Amino acid sequence: MKAVDVVIMAAGKGTRMHSSMPKVLQQLGDKPLVGHVIDTAKALSARHTVVITGHGAEQVEAALTGQPGLRFVRQMPQLGTGHALQQAAPVLPDDGITVVLSGDVPLTQSDTLQALVDATQGERLALLTLEMNDPTGYGRIVRQADGSVQAIVEHKDASDAQRAIREIYSGIMAVPTRLLLLWLQRLTNDNAQQEYYLTDVVKFAVADGHTVVAQVLHDPVQVAGVNTPVQLAELERAYQWRRAQALMVQGVRLRDPARLDVRGELICGRDVEIDVNCVFQGRVELGDNVRIGPNCVLSNVRIEAGAVLQAFTCVDGGSEGVTVGPRAAVGPFARLRPGAHLGAEVHVGNFVEIKNSTLADGAKANHLAYLGDATVGERVNYGAGSITANYDGANKHRTVIEADVHVGSNCVLVAPITLGAGGTIGGGSTISKSTEPGALTVVRAKQVSIPHWKRPAKIKK
Ligand code: UD1
Ligand code: CA
Repeated sequence: MKAVDVVIMAAGKGTRMHSSMPKVLQQLGDKPLVGHVIDTAKALSARHTVVITGHGAEQVEAALTGQPGLRFVRQMPQLGTGHALQQAAPVLPDDGITVVLSGDVPLTQSDTLQALVDATQGERLALLTLEMNDPTGYGRIVRQADGSVQAIVEHKDASDAQRAIREIYSGIMAVPTRLLLLWLQRLTNDNAQQEYYLTDVVKFAVADGHTVVAQVLHDPVQVAGVNTPVQLAELERAYQWRRAQALMVQGVRLRDPARLDVRGELICGRDVEIDVNCVFQGRVELGDNVRIGPNCVLSNVRIEAGAVLQAFTCVDGGSEGVTVGPRAAVGPFARLRPGAHLGAEVHVGNFVEIKNSTLADGAKANHLAYLGDATVGERVNYGAGSITANYDGANKHRTVIEADVHVGSNCVLVAPITLGAGGTIGGGSTISKSTEPGALTVVRAKQVSIPHWKRPAKIKK
């Protein structure tokens, strides 16, 4: 079989997005639209992938550089889809099959394209087509009496009879490159839009006696393009629905697949349950029996078996990552930041923030607390309102809380400091020196009571 080369047309303006960002860089899931198309090309094992840029070329190229195997060709000005392909012609080896895609059509599946490539049998022009109830605006597939494809006629050039045809050209074709290069030289712009239409290659193929095959697709989402923010949002939902279905097929239980957003990689064990309105970003791993409550936002985190994240928990692992140990209980309203590593059965409650800190097995910080740059031992109980003062305005310092320490409520632990194992810190203490194991340490003024104290009264004039 011949090698496949992909050409992605991405020179158009995208006026109806009303955005200063080039249309193909608008985000769908975790990537720009054109990023999805590039991934599809990769899944097809494309030999070369050529991206045709024009409007916003610098921005598009800058956003995509560093991706191996990509080549850019500029089209200035933009004189039509045929003209776009003419710009790519010099970099297309003539021994392959060229697959033509658009940078604003993100959800085409690689098996659909593989079937189209196969339909060329290495030597025929193959078009991906679709039946539409309202084909307005699209190129129509005109067939001969025997059903064979005769031409694609653009909407603006079509007669009333042709406009009644409901089979349209999706914008995707696979074509032997040797023939494509010959046909591209024959394009003219004598049509309603005075553009060089790529679709005119069909009539050249027919004129030269080549068979043109039309592969009819029954899944419109795969060829749907983005022209407006409304269409972008529709395709985002379609994309999320696909991701949700894939998870459910594996056994993940989603309370409502319509209220899930996966913007990255989500890896789930057995018997995982995810409540509504959760957002997953970057790489998230959920072990067996993990339960995620509603409205959680999780990025770059590994959550081990049996752990429970309650509602409104935010986890941002950043580049360092976050781990939540087995059977840990986190939230509601907890915040785990980069470098938070929780052991088995750790409890982190509401309005607790943890950054760059390790909590050993069984440690608890249940209410309103901050732990930054801390090493917390096993079974430590960290009281409500307590904080590590880890930043002196210039440098960060570490707090070590050894096993079985009990830190009372509303304590300030001024780092660097070590609290010895089994010690107790009285509530309301500001601790600035390390403490001995087993000791009770209290730092606060003695309580004073004055009996029968009379509050001052207002002086009457
Ligand atoms: C094209 C097809 C039409 C098909 C429709 C499907 C032609 C002549 N017509 O129409 O038969 O039904 O797609 O959506 O091909 N582009 C460039 N350079 C240009 C012009 C376009 O890179 O000079 C890019 C656009 O950015 C876009 C793609 O090519 O990604 C398609 O262009 P668009 O203007 O949307 O094509 P249509 O006229 O809608
Ligand atoms: Ca279009």
